[in-house]
Amino acid sequence: MPEFVAILDFGSQYTQLIARRVREHHVYCEILRCDTSIEELSGKKVKGIILSGGPSGVYEEEAPRCDPKIFDLGVPVLGICYGMQLGCELLGGKVIAAQHREYGSTEIEVSGEDPLFSGINSSTTVWMSHGDRVSEIEEGFETTAKTDNCPHAGIWHRESGFRGIQFHPEVTHTSEGSKILHNFLFAICDCSGDWSLSRFIEEKTAELKATIGSKNVVLGLSGGVDSSVVALLLDRAIGNQLTCIFVDNGVLRKNEREQVKGMFTDNYEFNLRVVDAPEVFLENLAGVTDPEEKRKRIGNTFIDGCKEAAADLDDVEFLAQGTLYPDVIESLSPIGGPSATIKSHHNVGGLPEQLGFKLIEPLRNHFKDEVRALGKELCLAPELLHRQPFPGPGLAVRIIVEITADNLDVLRNADVIIQEEIEKWEGYPGIWQSFGVLLPVQTVGVMGDQRTYDNVVALRIVESLDGMTANWICLPQDILASISSRICNEVHGVNRVVLDISSKPPSTIEWE
Ligand code: XMP
Repeated sequence: MPEFVAILDFGSQYTQLIARRVREHHVYCEILRCDTSIEELSGKKVKGIILSGGPSGVYEEEAPRCDPKIFDLGVPVLGICYGMQLGCELLGGKVIAAQHREYGSTEIEVSGEDPLFSGINSSTTVWMSHGDRVSEIEEGFETTAKTDNCPHAGIWHRESGFRGIQFHPEVTHTSEGSKILHNFLFAICDCSGDWSLSRFIEEKTAELKATIGSKNVVLGLSGGVDSSVVALLLDRAIGNQLTCIFVDNGVLRKNEREQVKGMFTDNYEFNLRVVDAPEVFLENLAGVTDPEEKRKRIGNTFIDGCKEAAADLDDVEFLAQGTLYPDVIESLSPIGGPSATIKSHHNVGGLPEQLGFKLIEPLRNHFKDEVRALGKELCLAPELLHRQPFPGPGLAVRIIVEITADNLDVLRNADVIIQEEIEKWEGYPGIWQSFGVLLPVQTVGVMGDQRTYDNVVALRIVESLDGMTANWICLPQDILASISSRICNEVHGVNRVVLDISSKPPSTIEWE
């Protein structure tokens, strides 16, 4: 078992960032429920524990807590924000609601001998986001950092090995955050930093082999980088026991089915089955406009398609999917508690309760850019590696009106033009996603002296590292102009194109 750092999640929006920062230091980590039992933790080779932040106040009755026995495990514990307050309270300190919420950048003053701050400037910029703060520390605690508003912005309890910091080292606004986490992992937890992508591949392959044994697996293959990487991992682990299933759900982009099939048959020798199901999906989506309902119906119909395709295979026990961490965090609260459902990503919250398969999701703890790096390491074909993300529910979440064959045609034709024009731009590789959205609005136009009353297409073009946040991109005017004029001229049923200039947050990338 590799050395690893456990991150106990108390519902912070930053928990996933802590995980990726730890992995950036080549230390393997997992995000676990905050109430993970002490037995489970002691069964692993835990080198350190990080308690994440969270939206609760430790004095609230329903506040999430961890087992206080984590301090008996003999491993260093770092509490961040809520995690600091909880650790402090569990060890006898006091926490109060601060008179002034502290949100944003601030300077802390560092003092004392704690190796957590070794090599850190005595005054350094950090990112704060808290209402409560530690107000009093008992004997046994030392203050290691403070701000004007927060007398104990850093604390150390030498006897138990607990450290708390009120600020967030995982966000880039904390200028020396990476160094602080480095100190925790290496100077304090004594990690060796020997985790790498190739090691991840080796370990995952072995783990998949052990889990699957001699059973068969079907993989929902979309042709995106996530499910393609899962296919390569499974191919290494179980070879012929894998059958990939591409479900044509009728809400794909133009020619996508042929393209994906071609890319896979040209590059790999996987068992690949294509399910031809557009009619069933469109029937099930008829009249549905609620985004969550769309996702659920697509999720259910997708599983039916996989079952049908696997019906003649023996011993199929598992369904594999390319689920990533952002799918999980936005669909469900990973601790069954505080973080809100944003969207039921069809491969997580959109699945039926009675699945009929055990799920295998080897990338469930990872982010898209990490998966791309993994794909590169696994020599994934470049045309698959660099594909833009495309949501499982496809064009269904980009048609804000009812999904009909006509609406799909309109959006597909507009989508082709958007891609053709944008690919001419030198900045294209930096684009995360570029697509059109068909709006439930008809507007008046004039074409060849005739009045038109047609649809609107919104352009959505964003850059992002991992889909968790995104910025809209301002394309050169000539490209925008050719997209707009081509769509209005060539796509029957559209007489207006608008540009979406919203970032995530507060918007999301997809419109639904
Ligand atoms: P949002 O719209 O939540 O999207 O900002 C973040 C990223 O996730 C993709 N996305 C999905 N992917 N099933 C998926 O497989 C879904 O239901 C889904 N919804 C959004 C989206 O395209 C973007 O890359």
